[in-house]
Amino acid sequence: MNTTLRERIDWVGCVDWTVRDFHSYDTEEGTTYNAYLIRDEKTALIDTVKAPFADELLRNVAALKPLSEIDLVVCNHAEPDHSGALPRVMTALPQATLVCDKRCRAALAQHFDTSSWRFQIVAEGDSLSLGRRTLAFVETPMVHWPESMFTYVPEEKLLFSMDAFGQHYASSERFDDELPLGTILDEAKAYYANIVMPYGKQVVECLAKAAELEIEMIATSHGLIWRSHVADIVAAYRDWSAGRPKAKVLVIYDTMWQSTDEMARAILQGASQPGVQAKLINIRRSSLTRIATEVLDAAAIAFGSATLNRMMMPMAGAVLTYLKGLRPVDKAGFAFGSYGWGRGGPEAIEEWLQAMPWEILRKPLKAQYRPTPEIIEECLAAGRLLADQAVRKAAG
Ligand code: FEO
Repeated sequence: MNTTLRERIDWVGCVDWTVRDFHSYDTEEGTTYNAYLIRDEKTALIDTVKAPFADELLRNVAALKPLSEIDLVVCNHAEPDHSGALPRVMTALPQATLVCDKRCRAALAQHFDTSSWRFQIVAEGDSLSLGRRTLAFVETPMVHWPESMFTYVPEEKLLFSMDAFGQHYASSERFDDELPLGTILDEAKAYYANIVMPYGKQVVECLAKAAELEIEMIATSHGLIWRSHVADIVAAYRDWSAGRPKAKVLVIYDTMWQSTDEMARAILQGASQPGVQAKLINIRRSSLTRIATEVLDAAAIAFGSATLNRMMMPMAGAVLTYLKGLRPVDKAGFAFGSYGWGRGGPEAIEEWLQAMPWEILRKPLKAQYRPTPEIIEECLAAGRLLADQAVRKAAG
């Protein structure tokens, strides 16, 4: 495994092959916790790893430099997947000073007993010389925690970007040109949709700061290091953070006795127009992670459920709760679904869509018990309406 980024700058992180749940994110491909060692006149460890991997991290560091000779530990982000190992690391590195911003210091003190740690607090625009190389600090608040920070090495045009541009993807490869680009971009998209999407405005600000730096390599804290496709991932972040949709329609639904399923398929058929990508998603055959990823670049969405006890079905509620928190922007859509003797499912969905807030294209489309041929015709027309809206939104 090639772990060298630049001369005497190495990846010393850990691969978590078996993790499948990351605070409800389905990590189907595992993940990595990336940490890096810069050996110069001073030696700096950039970020650490999740607590159970602390010993592995220390072994990786010790293979390159005695632990007693590590001068600095930079903490770009206090979330425990990158800071959990810090108590063990700060004990094992007796000479080390922890470098972070003031918000990070406060957050770390709320997670750990930091009373014996030496701190050096840095802020936007500060830099530290390691000898031949410099660490320059760029604060990126709310991408995606308040204390989030980039560390930039100008002499190497190298950006340590913590979670930004990352992917939950375990692999023996470390660099973006060692795997198919489409695979890595798909994982980066899932990561953005499920972790970063609520902070699009802050990402725009962060990209503006990054544009002022010469960047040849982006060393993220999860997944592959960008060195051959920096422009691709930055362009993707521009699109995602701007909420720029594709001409893409989703029909997302849950069903009880297949009436809502029948309606969903008719809506999909209507939406399947030339130049429009249309996808059918049965909530109970997918995952929250996959649904959020599809929603990220969709323009128009029909959301449906059968009525159960005058409510939508419970997994439909889970999806809407998750999506509302992620705050996908600039979507249009409508609610649909079936009911029996009591109404409630599609009406409840419409309230959620209004609260997102999404543009509501039509009143809820409903069928009592079974969709009649007239209602199927209405579904086909509603699908065509979604397709028209998707084309309009994609054209900007
Ligand atoms: Fe990978 Fe926000 O921690």
